[in-house]
Amino acid sequence: VIFKVGLLGASGRMGQEIASLLADGFTLGADAFVLADGITRSGRLQSLEGMPLRTFGEESREPVHVWIDFSRPEGTMALLEETDRPVVIGTTGFTPAQMETIEAFARKSPVLLCPNTSVGMNLLNAMLAQTATLASKDFAVVLEEDHHKLKQDAPSGSAKRLLESLTQAGFENPTVHVTRAGSIVGTHRIRFIADGEELVLEHRVTDRRIFAKGALHGAQFLLHRKEPRVYRIEEMK
Ligand SMILES: NC(=O)c1ccc[n+]([C@@H]2O[C@H](COP(=O)([O-])OP(=O)(O)OC[C@H]3O[C@@H](n4cnc5c(N)ncnc54)[C@H](OP(=O)(O)O)[C@@H]3O)[C@@H](O)[C@H]2O)c1
Repeated sequence: VIFKVGLLGASGRMGQEIASLLADGFTLGADAFVLADGITRSGRLQSLEGMPLRTFGEESREPVHVWIDFSRPEGTMALLEETDRPVVIGTTGFTPAQMETIEAFARKSPVLLCPNTSVGMNLLNAMLAQTATLASKDFAVVLEEDHHKLKQDAPSGSAKRLLESLTQAGFENPTVHVTRAGSIVGTHRIRFIADGEELVLEHRVTDRRIFAKGALHGAQFLLHRKEPRVYRIEEMK
């Protein structure tokens, strides 16, 4: 099957990475993915991989099967008003009210919520959940996350997800350190510190392409789901 993909945030760092994968012809098993529509906010970048981009006010190029969104929360909200197609949401930094809008949309069309589309981050989260359950509460826990200086939200969506796992395991108020510097793609580190010893779990992304591939795997997963609801990336095998 050939699936047409719409990209929200097409001119951004992630949008351009996904578009370049699609331009090379991206297939996953029997499924192929092509770029069919692209939205930006400013119209700063007018075309991508030979395809004209548009803003929300402008008419869509052609119907798509699935949207992949790496933009800003306001962009995500505008997309959910415009479309009735499944949406892979890679954007982070939603308020509780915006999360409710996503939940309401997902009653009609499936949504995959993925604050981090790398394989390693999902492994880290599983390892953290287990470690935090086993660890004595005498450990002090410090969560550190480092990203490039242009990243808008803090702590990152992935850090928030890791904090959820810590809270569920009874570590209520871990110290969180955020660094925004240089061109760091994304590092998350959880330190369990006790007298005389320290255990460190760390994940580093060095290439954005990892996130882009994960998002396309997410699109395939979503396109094969029938039930409309919010899916989480942990549900993907
Ligand atoms: N899930 C993951 O694994 C993962 C990985 C990396 C990043 N992220 C998240 O993905 C998002 C984008 O990251 P990025 O580094 O690609 O950002 P970026 O380079 O700043 O790109 C943002 C893109 O969104 C567009 N945009 C911004 N506001 C918009 C609006 N209101 N309506 C429509 N389009 C809008 C921008 O258009 P203009 O160029 O016209 O301004 C641009 O195309 C962030 O939330 C980031 O945290 C997630």
